[in-house]
Amino acid sequence: MSEVAKLMIDGKEFELPVVEGSQGEKAIDIRTLRQTTGYITFDPGFGSTGTCKSSITYMDGEKGILRYRGIPIEQLAEQSTFVETAFLLITGQLPTNDELTRTSVYLNDFSLLHENMKAFYQNYPSKAHPMGILSAMINAMRSFYPELIDLEEEMNKTYLRLISKIRTMAAMAYRISMGERVVYPRPDLCYCANFLNMMFDNAVIPYRMDDDIVKALNVFWILHADHEQNCSTTAVRVVGSGKVNIYSAISAGISALWGPLHGGANQAVINMLDAIHKKGLSVEQCIKKAKDKDDPFRLMGFGHRVYKTYDPRAKIMKKMCDLVLSKVKQDDPLLDIARKLEEKELEDSYFKDKNLYPNVDFYSGIVLRAMGIPTNMFTVMFAIGRLPGWIAQWKEDVADPEMKISRPRQVYTGAQLTDYIPIHKR
Ligand code: SDX
Repeated sequence: MSEVAKLMIDGKEFELPVVEGSQGEKAIDIRTLRQTTGYITFDPGFGSTGTCKSSITYMDGEKGILRYRGIPIEQLAEQSTFVETAFLLITGQLPTNDELTRTSVYLNDFSLLHENMKAFYQNYPSKAHPMGILSAMINAMRSFYPELIDLEEEMNKTYLRLISKIRTMAAMAYRISMGERVVYPRPDLCYCANFLNMMFDNAVIPYRMDDDIVKALNVFWILHADHEQNCSTTAVRVVGSGKVNIYSAISAGISALWGPLHGGANQAVINMLDAIHKKGLSVEQCIKKAKDKDDPFRLMGFGHRVYKTYDPRAKIMKKMCDLVLSKVKQDDPLLDIARKLEEKELEDSYFKDKNLYPNVDFYSGIVLRAMGIPTNMFTVMFAIGRLPGWIAQWKEDVADPEMKISRPRQVYTGAQLTDYIPIHKR
């Protein structure tokens, strides 16, 4: 007999079915709660609310576990590539050699932008944030490449078109903001190398490709590729639940990721470290400010809604820091501050008691900085990495027969019944 949860309300007992996941985590199915009890649940931020069943990513926040389609993130970071990981997330399987070759050919074929899309960039203010440009450009793709939702092969091409073009859009936004000529993608370069070349190649000093930097970028994007029902993925699912086209759903995800509490944290971490460096603040002063309830200062890059231990991605990113900095032979004073901050934070009972540990964003900004990525492009880098996850989650949502349009309820706290007062009587 399947397990049930019992709820006592006003002396009456109600039974609610329990749903169990493949890793043993359990949920109370409350879909019938309102019609059977007249009550709804209340959970701002959804800290205790599951919004879907998903087989894409598994996280255990207490144990610091992260797996894509069952494969540990550590193994993918060590042995896989971003394109292969994207294939795994979207299809549920690792690609065969032929599938990987076909995918790479499509990514090359789709890497150019429609020339008319370039005009969009010319009309943005030069200081426009690239996340705003990216969100708009992805939405605009619907007008140039309408998706054929009923043809699976065509939708697979739409997914690859998105993954290929987001890279070109990002690099183009950067080059145009710098007043530099646009560098077009090259068919002889792999996904990550092509991006680096489009960002940094120039006629005077051709970009010197470094295998370790390309590897670091693959790892960076693998670590960011999916993270179950985070803020931006929830935005993609909620917007997609209205059956709007995939481009608009992804565009909503980019907008959600932009926030400094979410994907914007990597840029906020560097800004924080830079401010500490410039103001000559001590690590102790920062820790004190972060603990002061009256001080809005927060240690960006620390804390997580799910991980109540070290974010497994942060451990890998920290190793990438050492690799990339050794390659560019750069001593970054911000890395020294980051290391001291982490050391002090980890030994401080305030943070330990609140389970506040470094998250993926804490070291990622330093890796990107060492690669030469400008700070205002950091969250764009996160978006490029997260795109396969958003696609996989969107695809799963629209195919799930249990999913309906997202329409949560509320607890109303406003005025009681009130009559209208005509203006001449107010
Ligand atoms: C990402 O969800 C995901 O999976 C996201 C992500 C992904 O891959 O998609 O992992 C990517 O967004 C990582 C998180 C990046 N954001 C930051 O680094 C910003 C700094 N961190 C915080 O703002 C915060 O930790 C959050 C937003 C990440 C999580 O916030 P929660 O779960 O809502 O926790 P909370 O704000 O309720 O904080 C609990 C307590 C509070 O103290 P009390 O009110 O209980 O006394 O911890 C404190 C907070 O004040 N706290 C911090 C802190 N984070 C939480 N105190 C100081 N510095 C911090 N960074």
